Amino acid sequence: METNTARLMMPGSNSHHNPNSQKEPAIRINNLNVYANHQHILTNINVNIPKNEITVLLGPSGCGKTTLLKTMCKLTDLYPELTISGSVRIGEKDILAENSNIPLMRQKMGLLSQKPFPLPFSIYKNVSYAVKLKGVKDKGLIAWCVEKKLREVGLWHEVKDRLNSSADSLSIGQQQRLCLARGLAVKPMVILADEPTSALDPTSSKKIENLFRELKKHYTIVVVTHILRQARRLADNVVFMSEGQVIETGTPGKLFNHPESPQLKEYLVDGS
Ligand SMILES: Nc1ncnc2c1ncn2[C@@H]1O[C@H](COP(=O)(O)OP(=O)(O)OP(=O)(O)O)[C@@H](O)[C@H]1O
Ligand SMILES: [Mg+2]
Repeated sequence: METNTARLMMPGSNSHHNPNSQKEPAIRINNLNVYANHQHILTNINVNIPKNEITVLLGPSGCGKTTLLKTMCKLTDLYPELTISGSVRIGEKDILAENSNIPLMRQKMGLLSQKPFPLPFSIYKNVSYAVKLKGVKDKGLIAWCVEKKLREVGLWHEVKDRLNSSADSLSIGQQQRLCLARGLAVKPMVILADEPTSALDPTSSKKIENLFRELKKHYTIVVVTHILRQARRLADNVVFMSEGQVIETGTPGKLFNHPESPQLKEYLVDGS
């Protein structure tokens, strides 16, 4: 009975006793283990990612945050040296066991990387390409969708007079928002963002943070960050990791004000 989880809970804990329980988790990760050759890089991960909330993955460099994010969109398949066991369920489907329709499955998981990677096309085509992937053929409708997505990421007014310019001509912060617009155009269920603001200046970072707050009404968001203040600002839930394991999970209030594990206590002291 771990289905009615309001907050991020470790499956197996008494989440069904939580009086606030309402929400079905968007992603349920159970007994996940990942080995790279013989190195154990994720150890027995059990985590639920609540729907329509922002979950922040936090932890020191090398603790496995990116690997966990990649597992959630099956990108780990691209690395033959990785051995994976356990389950990552989205609804009833275990994506680790799923071997058909992988591109379609990945489309449901919008991945935003640390460095923006616009396609070598115009600003317009970066988004229209994604709209067409969803089978939209009518030119007018494509243009409408492109505008809608650019508005959603607050970029429309900045680019509407230069839609045919190369995406490379945008600032890095604008490129990151363009990549987000492109990701949203394929209608993902979940947005997975790996240190999405680390290449950005403070103003652009704030824009991305504000967008995430807006977008969580419609999407489940998982953000990897090193920045404690960003985690405090953004997170509805925090997953603190260390050396391939999930050490503590909970609200930022709980984790940052009342850390329990020595690892998190040390991390908070070092990071403040
Ligand atoms: N394909 C791979 N082959 C070998 N080792 C890997 C592979 N992918 C990840 N690792 C190792 O697994 C560990 C976790 O890496 P990961 O990139 O997930 O960490 P991270 O928490 O994202 O770190 P950072 O904060 O520096 O980005 C590291 O020791 C890394 O070297
Ligand atoms: Mg990483």
